[in-house]
Amino acid sequence: MTGGPVVLAIETSCDETAVAVLRAPGELLAGEVASQIELHNRFGGVVPEVASRNHLLALRPLIERTLREAGVGLDEVAGLAATAGPGLATSLMVGFSAAKGLAVGLRKPFFAINHLEGHLLSPFFGGNVEPCVALVVSGGHTMLVEVLGAGDYRVLGQTRDDAAGEAFDKVAKLLRLPYPGGPEIDRRAKTGDGRRFPLPRSMMDSGDSAFSFSGLKTAVRYLLPKVDLDDAQTVADMCASFQEAAVDVLVAKTIAAARRCGRKLVTVSGGVSCNSRLRERFREVCAAQGLELRLAEPALCTDNAAMIAYVAVGRLERGEAAPLTAEISPNLPLEGASD
Ligand code: KG4
Ligand code: ZN
Repeated sequence: MTGGPVVLAIETSCDETAVAVLRAPGELLAGEVASQIELHNRFGGVVPEVASRNHLLALRPLIERTLREAGVGLDEVAGLAATAGPGLATSLMVGFSAAKGLAVGLRKPFFAINHLEGHLLSPFFGGNVEPCVALVVSGGHTMLVEVLGAGDYRVLGQTRDDAAGEAFDKVAKLLRLPYPGGPEIDRRAKTGDGRRFPLPRSMMDSGDSAFSFSGLKTAVRYLLPKVDLDDAQTVADMCASFQEAAVDVLVAKTIAAARRCGRKLVTVSGGVSCNSRLRERFREVCAAQGLELRLAEPALCTDNAAMIAYVAVGRLERGEAAPLTAEISPNLPLEGASD
């Protein structure tokens, strides 16, 4: 076997069962994600009991398949990692216990990883972490973070109510579109007119790094009695108008935070960073303002275990294993990652 040590990581914080095998420093040998979207679609959102039961069913075969694809035996794994939080307690528990159990059985170090740190560092996957201002936009979080180095973070601001992805999902529901709403809105907005419905850009010029998306969602709700949702063009126009408003705020506040911190590098990660319009606008604005931009690769934007493995490899190299008494923490804050 050549190259660095191999880490096996498990991510089960929400409704995706994911396993990855990564060779240090950044060679992804295999990464698998078993999505439960179909299962949860009929409920219009994630049902925690259904999610945890399916993690239990899916995890073992997924670990075996991922190892097979990586061409690696369990005896070659140098460390085991799992997401410790934030996330759904009953879902986190499944992946966390499995990774811990394997670590005990194999007598290898165990790494308890913060899901937000996974997203945060995913734009650097395969390389070295650099100082930057980072926007993390997912279904559960919207935050701006100053990254000083691996494990050294300063949260600049977060959302006061809905996360950006949550707003995409809730607005999609209002428009009678399937769950998860983000990719659906993204797709429909491509043929829509983003100027047809003027919508609020809440806190865009607030001078700080806090966000609020509930007003935007409510503004869409107030439009509903005035529009015909059976007209595909109207739905496309509403998707585009909502998306423009959300993207305007995310881009403007990130650039302003980078300026305030004096950082030349901007990164974007998390499920919403898959959004094609968000990616396009970040590219345009950063180029115009002379800022360097790193967007997470699309496959690393939504929940996956490769990003968890990448953080764990850094810990392995620094000799920072977690004790086997480590527990899940459903509300784990990002700063906890650097403790
Ligand atoms: O990071 P992620 O997979 O899970 C959390 O940690 O929350 O993010 C999921 C969120 C969902 O709200 C989903 O609607 C959103 O990411 N999302 C998108 C797109 N793809 C996924 N939002 C907007 N545009 C997309 N293309
Ligand atoms: Zn996530």
